[in-house]
Amino acid sequence: MTASSSSSSSPSDVWTGAGRRIFMQDVGTRDGLQAETTFVPTADKIALVDALSDAGLAKVEVTAFVSPKAISVLADASEVMAGITRKPGVIYTVLVPNVRGAERAIEARADELNLVMSASESHNLSNLRMTREQSFAGLAEVAAMAHQAGIAVNVSLSCSFGCPMEGDVPFETVLGWCGHFLEDLGARGVTLCDTTGMAYPTQVVALVRAFRARWPEAQLTLHFHNTRGMGLANVIAAIDAGADRFDASLGGIGGCPYAPGATGNVCTEEIVHALQCMGCDTGVDLERLIAAARRLPPLIGHAVPSQIVSAGRRLDLHPRPRDFDAIRERALARDA
Ligand code: COA
Ligand code: ZN
Repeated sequence: MTASSSSSSSPSDVWTGAGRRIFMQDVGTRDGLQAETTFVPTADKIALVDALSDAGLAKVEVTAFVSPKAISVLADASEVMAGITRKPGVIYTVLVPNVRGAERAIEARADELNLVMSASESHNLSNLRMTREQSFAGLAEVAAMAHQAGIAVNVSLSCSFGCPMEGDVPFETVLGWCGHFLEDLGARGVTLCDTTGMAYPTQVVALVRAFRARWPEAQLTLHFHNTRGMGLANVIAAIDAGADRFDASLGGIGGCPYAPGATGNVCTEEIVHALQCMGCDTGVDLERLIAAARRLPPLIGHAVPSQIVSAGRRLDLHPRPRDFDAIRERALARDA
């Protein structure tokens, strides 16, 4: 087959995602670092956030204002927020589990509070030590505080694609909570979280379509973990179904400490690399992003899952073998 016979159509002829703006949101300094046992020094966290801003991420989840007893590696949340350089246009969001967290986040001048509860009762109790009803009452209080302070609210719904303790969560349960967040709390957006990598592409398409049919204007984010190798496939499926916002983690680190079997988020540089190959406009400078990911291993004390950090981009070419000329001459001599 010749090269021209396979390249006669442009990317937009073969895929609905080509040419579309896709918003990439990095959660590495929150979801990523919360899963690590090593405390990354505050100055290094600040440098990572600044590197992500410089690389062109649309949103950065900087940290979590959670109990330092629960997640000690993020105990410096206020200092990190005070130290970052805010780039115009980038949204700096923070995870907030309760009123105490909201007070600290508002004090730190976060652009957005990312509230969290779980679609599954078992995971909500394990992670947040409350029933879902109790969590929702708390979220309502926090949302009121945020609105008072003029700060936008997003709600992340853990286990939207399945719970590691309960199994499948019915769509109606997931969409029911989304309705409460958007219509009762006045949230700007909802994040459907696949906390332990249980989502699969056809399920993603069905849920995204059902969400979009009810709330065409709401900001919808998909948050996938790559626990079962379906992360990138889920992103592509979601884009096909109309989604345009994705959480991902630098280096592919991450995971909820209160969800059995949780592992890394989809990797930001892998997703950006794939989407750029396929003609999406991510606004991200991939070279800068990869450079930022390469800072992680010495900070966390181990290699990162990122395949792009290991392999480079698809057109980062390698030299031919040293004896290539001799090989070619020998090959051509056979025809002579
Ligand atoms: N920021 C700082 N301190 C906090 C806090 C917050 N957001 N929330 C609670 N605390 C402190 C309280 O002041 C209290 O401190 P004290 O013992 O010195 O008085 C202590 O933590 C316990 O507070 P309590 O209200 O009883 O909370 P809890 O023990 O029921 O914990 C959570 C509830 C959810 C706030 C806590 O478990 C937590 O932050 N978990 C992390 C959840 C998370 O990030 N999961 C992964 C992401 S999805
Ligand atoms: Zn997560």
